[in-house]
Amino acid sequence: MTSHPATPGPVSLQPPNTASHAMATPMLAIRNIQVVYGGAIEAVRDVSLEVPAGRIVALLGSNGAGKSTVLKAVSAVLDAEDGKVEKGSIHLLDQSIQQATAHGIVGLGLVQVPEGRRLFATLTVEENLIVGAHLQDRRVLAQARDYVFDLFPRLVEKRHQIAGYLSGGEQQMVAIGRALMSRPRMLALDEPSLGLAPLVVSEIFEAIRTLRDRNGLTILLVEQNASRALAIADYAYIMENGRVVLDGTPEALGRNADVREFYLGLSTQQGRTSMRDVKHYKRRKRWLS
Ligand SMILES: Nc1ncnc2c1ncn2[C@@H]1O[C@H](COP(=O)(O)OP(=O)(O)OP(=O)(O)O)[C@@H](O)[C@H]1O
Ligand SMILES: [Mg+2]
Repeated sequence: MTSHPATPGPVSLQPPNTASHAMATPMLAIRNIQVVYGGAIEAVRDVSLEVPAGRIVALLGSNGAGKSTVLKAVSAVLDAEDGKVEKGSIHLLDQSIQQATAHGIVGLGLVQVPEGRRLFATLTVEENLIVGAHLQDRRVLAQARDYVFDLFPRLVEKRHQIAGYLSGGEQQMVAIGRALMSRPRMLALDEPSLGLAPLVVSEIFEAIRTLRDRNGLTILLVEQNASRALAIADYAYIMENGRVVLDGTPEALGRNADVREFYLGLSTQQGRTSMRDVKHYKRRKRWLS
């Protein structure tokens, strides 16, 4: 089995002896999971994270860090890629969901919006929304649809257009809207900002914030765009090479020099490539001194 080189454990930026960021039972609790693809590739190693009810928790990290794998583990969609949670546990409101099917997890109120949106390209906006609502009666359906149109007003005029011809931002809105049609209590969003222009990203992130503030939705937000995600998140975890390397409030992370340099692009220092390199360098330095 290939595994990632040993990296230091997660660094919590919370002050010591304070309660964890999740005081009550978290909506979602992931404990020490390991995810392996094809029985050989360890993509996620010893990852723990909590998402308290009614909060936005961001999961940040660069390409290949393991963010989507964590989301897929939570939504039970790893099977399709020959992936498996080999160790650890996942609980949704105190209930173990490790044996649950993808459909069962949606039934428990957790819906994922996968990377790349995955709309039905030949169906209209409204048809895509209705597919997300499956089995609901007409009145509930109309209410859910109006709620989505209220959140994303620009979808109203596009409601009869074919989804495949929409802009990337509009497609992302339909994808989030479709997830909302089953009236979830928790959304897991995989890189909603991917490939979108800054103004559209603002519009989408504002809607995500609204879902928390107005509707009390719980949100796990996977992003490479750290500054956007930290602007709306209550708490964040940073992954590298399959592990969580840092976690904290956006304020605490924003003060961290490594985060400022590698994720927020705020440092003037040149020549470093990743937080892992820096840590190795620091450890080497400690070792030599
Ligand atoms: N189906 C798969 N089979 C084998 N390896 C995979 C599979 N999916 C992902 N991986 C590997 O697992 C690791 C984590 O991938 P993952 O997609 O979770 O990263 P990510 O953080 O979401 O990256 P990105 O920001 O590029 O989406 C990578 O090394 C990737 O190559
Ligand atoms: Mg990904």
